Amino acid sequence: MEFLDRGKGNPLVLIHGFPLDGRIWEGQLELLAKSGRVLVPDLPGFGRTPPAPMASMEAYAREILALMDGLGLRRFAVAGHSMGGYVALALQRLAPARLSGLALVSSRATADTEEGRKAREVVARRVEAEGVGFLAETAAGRMFGPAPGEALLKRVQGIMGSQSAAGVAAAARAMGTRPEARLQLRSISCPALVIAGRHDQIVPAAESEGMAAAIRQARLVWAEGSGHLPMLEEPERVAKELAAFNRET
Ligand code: MLT
Repeated sequence: MEFLDRGKGNPLVLIHGFPLDGRIWEGQLELLAKSGRVLVPDLPGFGRTPPAPMASMEAYAREILALMDGLGLRRFAVAGHSMGGYVALALQRLAPARLSGLALVSSRATADTEEGRKAREVVARRVEAEGVGFLAETAAGRMFGPAPGEALLKRVQGIMGSQSAAGVAAAARAMGTRPEARLQLRSISCPALVIAGRHDQIVPAAESEGMAAAIRQARLVWAEGSGHLPMLEEPERVAKELAAFNRET
């Protein structure tokens, strides 16, 4: 799996969402690398990492564990954006003792509904037939708060449009089969952070509030001017929150 590795000290792994890649965390790298070690993988099938034969949130989590094993890092903190948060929750299911902290950014603990699963299959088939271009057109617009600006919209469309059809289709199906994790939240015993965009059209505010309330040691931070992509919409704010979080872990 391809990844960036910057800084020294407490390791923090930043996992991107769908259909994106590690570039979404560019605005946090410099600050985080000053206060610790930051690792930014491209999940299989995204960015520079080729697709793997099998995709599931657990399979992605195992790839992260293998990466950390390869680097000799037993304990690490993790921050996952949206689908990356589903992977972070899979890591907590597979290897809770290895997590020194868990941050969920614009993510959720609920599974897909039956309708949601069918919609994932429709997306997967369309991506396989046409490529990812239509997703960059349709999905990017729903990702932002009130005023993203043309440059940011184009940047996100560029990242989405550069993903491989095989990787995106596999991830869409994998998200459709992810398990319900609300009860799991109660078993999280490491320091936790929930970052939510006040204007998120994908994860409603009540879900973020519910998640933070269910995790014993969670702090909830609102990105007041953001939609679903606070790390791009309010990069400095998110960098500062993640740096403070990594110092606690
Ligand atoms: C993401 O940003 O990773 C996706 O919106 C997550 C999802 O579709 O459930």
